Amino acid sequence: MEIITAVEALKTQSRQWRSKGKTIVLVPTMGYFHEGHLSLIREGRRQGDILVVSLFVNPTQFAPSEDFDTYPKDFERDRRLAEQIGVDVIFYPDNNEMYPSEYKTYIEVSELGRKLCGVSRPTFFRGVTTVVLKLFTIVQPHVVLFGWKDAQQFIIIQRMVEDLNLDVQLIGMPIVREPDGLAMSSRNAYLSSQERKEATVLYSALQKVQSLIGEGVTEAAQLRSEMETIVRSAPSVRIDYIHIVSLHDLQQLDHVEHGKTLIGLAVFIGNTRLIDNIRV
Ligand code: PAF
Repeated sequence: MEIITAVEALKTQSRQWRSKGKTIVLVPTMGYFHEGHLSLIREGRRQGDILVVSLFVNPTQFAPSEDFDTYPKDFERDRRLAEQIGVDVIFYPDNNEMYPSEYKTYIEVSELGRKLCGVSRPTFFRGVTTVVLKLFTIVQPHVVLFGWKDAQQFIIIQRMVEDLNLDVQLIGMPIVREPDGLAMSSRNAYLSSQERKEATVLYSALQKVQSLIGEGVTEAAQLRSEMETIVRSAPSVRIDYIHIVSLHDLQQLDHVEHGKTLIGLAVFIGNTRLIDNIRV
């Protein structure tokens, strides 16, 4: 496994792979791997000839008040895990390599980035789409894998790929959960043991609406209110949003439309912000 830190070195390497007819697969990450990342990397290994995992804590997707400086990191452990799975290259640039001092260009998918998580994190998706497009041009992948845990991120990147006619195939991978249902996230590491216990309300709320929908309830207001009751039962949890929206354009729905609906929530537990979702 090779570790490449320079943009030009990886671009040259990718051009050579492409000229030899190799299929390049990219798994973009910010590191501090958990089972969610590893499931993407394992599937990535199956999807093509060359597997590149990028590991870059992207400063442009963090607001000044957010956790960029404290975002958890363990490069040695990530390197070992990636090597065990058979990753070919870890792309590990520093901030200056990705955003030199004269950097000025940002990519914004309008509207979609201002809904759901975009209300409390108005510059987040602009940072994500900017770095993801840069990774696409550097790595030149045929296939890219993302997790459905970040459903809005996936939907926005799909929109960008379609709008800009990018020649990549996106694969969305299922959410990986802890045994008690909490969606895996690098930020779970911030939770105290009491907060960690309370964090199970996110999935409990989603399971509850799933079973109500199974019983025939489709009214969004009723489903949202059931979720709110469950989430509010945890004393340290503050709701950022609970939304029932179209998977296509993130517009609010009055009723669940089977196969076309995203039910997502974001909460603060202490200072930690967690998200989760289901598609129904
Ligand atoms: O999902 C993430 O880890 C990040 O948002 C991504 C896609 C690697 C961009 O920095």
